[in-house]
Amino acid sequence: MEDYILEMRNIDKSYGGIHALKNVSIGLKRGEVLCLCGENGAGKSTLMKILAGVEKPTDGEIFIEGKKVEIEKPVDAFRFGISMVHQELIQIEDMTIAENIFAGRYRSKGGLIDAKALREDTLRLLEKLDIHFNPNSLVRQYSIANRQLIEIAKAMSHELSIIVFDEPTAPLTVEETENLYRIIRKLRDDGVAVILISHRLEDVFAVGDRIAVLKDGENAGELAVEEATVDKIVKMMIGRQMSQQFPEKTDRIGDRARIGDTVMEVKHLTNRRIKDISFRLRKGEILGVAGLVGAGRTELLRAVFGVDPCEGEIILRGERIVNKSPIEGLGRGFALVPEDRKDQGLILSQSILQNMILSILKKASSFGFMNRKKETGACDEYIEKLKIRTPGRNLMVSALSGGNQQKVVLGKCLASKPEILLLDEPTRGVDIGAKAEIYKIINDLAGEGLSILVVSSEMTELLGISDRILVMHEGHLSGELTMEEASEEAIMKLALSHKENTA
Ligand SMILES: Nc1ncnc2c1ncn2[C@@H]1O[C@H](COP(=O)(O)OP(=O)(O)OP(=O)(O)O)[C@@H](O)[C@H]1O
Ligand SMILES: [Mg+2]
Repeated sequence: MEDYILEMRNIDKSYGGIHALKNVSIGLKRGEVLCLCGENGAGKSTLMKILAGVEKPTDGEIFIEGKKVEIEKPVDAFRFGISMVHQELIQIEDMTIAENIFAGRYRSKGGLIDAKALREDTLRLLEKLDIHFNPNSLVRQYSIANRQLIEIAKAMSHELSIIVFDEPTAPLTVEETENLYRIIRKLRDDGVAVILISHRLEDVFAVGDRIAVLKDGENAGELAVEEATVDKIVKMMIGRQMSQQFPEKTDRIGDRARIGDTVMEVKHLTNRRIKDISFRLRKGEILGVAGLVGAGRTELLRAVFGVDPCEGEIILRGERIVNKSPIEGLGRGFALVPEDRKDQGLILSQSILQNMILSILKKASSFGFMNRKKETGACDEYIEKLKIRTPGRNLMVSALSGGNQQKVVLGKCLASKPEILLLDEPTRGVDIGAKAEIYKIINDLAGEGLSILVVSSEMTELLGISDRILVMHEGHLSGELTMEEASEEAIMKLALSHKENTA
């Protein structure tokens, strides 16, 4: 099979007792985009980490252009022209763009780093991607999307024949995603072979040539994109036809009766990033928040929860409150599932149980003593409910796949038994089957009387689960839509335009 630039044959990987990959084989042709699909925990990232020299396989062989190679460390991978843009970006925030890209590979001049060459090399790379950042600026000031572009530039700084993107579009806006598609197509046309991991099947249809599916650490089949349909892919991924993704819409509209009185009234909420936001949230209501990235949606949730200071009023069940810290927020029955699980949501070096009980503990003072049995019981309940793929509650969170980590963040919040649940991109990186489970859980919680404020960049998600949708634009509330009025176009119109009268 000479036309394969890459073959991974019979790859096996065990982490202690966890058998992450079983005899997996894939082949990749030059100038093709191979999409790797599969449920959370199927082994996609592990397989690619082995290719990138980040993890070592327990068994198996890798061939580049027909020749058997040993990839033991990331530098070996670079030597073979293999680069990977990871699911969780690994960057040093306090270094400049140029330093991040060329770390350890600086050109020197008279024994010193040649700063001019470093800057110029970086500029040349960024130009290739059509981006205009200052090479000497710190990475920390850039958004996730832009940091990803910096990672891509870094990948391209090596002689490149194979590039792997692990879940690249999850945090991106529509435009940023289009830009990434453009970059991927250009790479492919330049003869680079691309492997793309994504839970968004739109990505697969937009840029993919071929699909390989993993299930429970094994090959589950391959398919040309021309022949693929969502149903076919999903069936290979989860081994059965998926039932419906969103809870019955008619149920939801007919079920308005479950929505009660106002629980929380937000009045003129203002801080550095949000301007004069006022709305009401009712008991049992799922209130969606739409807007473009940078519109202030995350900042709104953070201000309500008590992460960021703000002015204005929040009236909770008739009482005027301000959450001055997340602890105060938790104490009053709020819980926040943050956008970036790594920064704010999880302690990776602790177990699932420890992470889950963290939020219970914070609240425990108001409940008195929580017993051990209750804690483990609650933890197991959410592992089960959210279908977290783990051998048990004591596994370190860092050993979970990306999507399963996201489920722990969600479980952790639910375990605090909130009355007002603030969700920021709750299904980012979660597979299509698990998404449906999460929508059902959100719907059930609302049915039990929880009030939910949910931010999402996925329109179908917002339209599928909300009872009402707020739209933000540049820090302001630009409109509010009932589900009868709401559509992708109606949301976009408000997301792009300023509200004329701000009364
Ligand atoms: N360091 C580790 N220690 C133990 N188990 C691990 C480790 N890393 C990964 N695993 C396990 O290997 C399996 C495959 O994980 P992997 O991250 O490859 O999944 P994935 O297909 O990328 O999923 P996702 O879509 O959620 O990102 C999972 O069961 C995971 O818990
Ligand atoms: Mg992964």
